[in-house]
Amino acid sequence: MRTRITDMLGIQYPIVQGGMHFVGLAELASAVSNAGGLGILTALTQPSPAALAEEIARCRGMTDKPFGVNLTFLPARTPPDYPGYVRSIVDGGIKVVETAGNNPQKWMPMLKEAGITVIHKCTSVRHALKAEAIGCDAVSVDGFECGGHPGEDDVPNFILLPRAAETLKIPFIASGGMADGRSLVAAMAMGAEGMNMGTRFIATKEAPVHEKVKQAIVAASELDTRLVMRPLRNTERVLNNAGVERLLAKERELGDRITFDDIVAEVGGVYPKVMRDGDLDAGAWSCGMVAGLIHDIPTVKELIDRIVAEAQQIVRQRLAGMV
Ligand SMILES: Cc1cc2nc3c(=O)[nH]c(=O)nc-3n(C[C@H](O)[C@H](O)[C@H](O)COP(=O)(O)O)c2cc1C
Repeated sequence: MRTRITDMLGIQYPIVQGGMHFVGLAELASAVSNAGGLGILTALTQPSPAALAEEIARCRGMTDKPFGVNLTFLPARTPPDYPGYVRSIVDGGIKVVETAGNNPQKWMPMLKEAGITVIHKCTSVRHALKAEAIGCDAVSVDGFECGGHPGEDDVPNFILLPRAAETLKIPFIASGGMADGRSLVAAMAMGAEGMNMGTRFIATKEAPVHEKVKQAIVAASELDTRLVMRPLRNTERVLNNAGVERLLAKERELGDRITFDDIVAEVGGVYPKVMRDGDLDAGAWSCGMVAGLIHDIPTVKELIDRIVAEAQQIVRQRLAGMV
């Protein structure tokens, strides 16, 4: 399969694994890249820039294919050592960076000087246009259905993707709600040059997370996610659980008076407890509505081969037969 994105990233299939906190480690990123997609390490999961450098080296030992690094700029009480992480990315010879959250403009000169392709992940057409204007090479457009941070505009992909197509010059990747060959063909039909998946890649054999997390995603339906932190304008789509119910009760009770301090027990330091220890009720952890389309735990290669075969079959048979 050849698109502007496969050419730009030097990959076989237009399938990208989005950065995921405590999931985007070398095991998953290398498996995705080895299967012909683009795997992505998550920088901030590493406790320090030196640890990220080691993780990049570890991933390079597991694949000779291209892989990327995600750099997320979210509101934080104490900002991480971003200059250090960028230095590890550049020195580690990484050629693709997925930025997300706040505008990455400040880091563009350093990344572009190192010859790095920058894909900015964003949730609105205006942010995608801004990314284009500051020199990003591509964007991932994350619809309202996505796991993680969907932004505050609530525009689902059936509208967002065609709006991106009629507005952007740089290529874009459809993100949010993508699971299978149908998603890939639909994304392409709406003008995308590839698709980005988060939740679907967690339910794979290689994802380095507790088995209970994978089983919870398989068991969940499309009705089982909740939006938390709306009152803080830091909305996150998460899988419902006891910790999330506690958090939502606080949001209802405190209304607009709520602050981060009120919910720190449900959102701070949750990821290692969930992903590593399998303590699913520890608090809020991201999950997309796409959980409703996830029914098994294949290897990454089985998943990607299946997606590509299904996409080709839809185009060649189902769609071609209609015209
Ligand atoms: C458990 C989990 C953790 C995530 N962590 C991050 C992150 O640290 N940085 C980021 O940019 N996106 C993060 N995301 C978002 C994904 O990269 C991707 O954009 C999103 O999952 C796409 O929606 P989908 O889950 O419907 O495929 C996370 C998603 C999940 C499910």
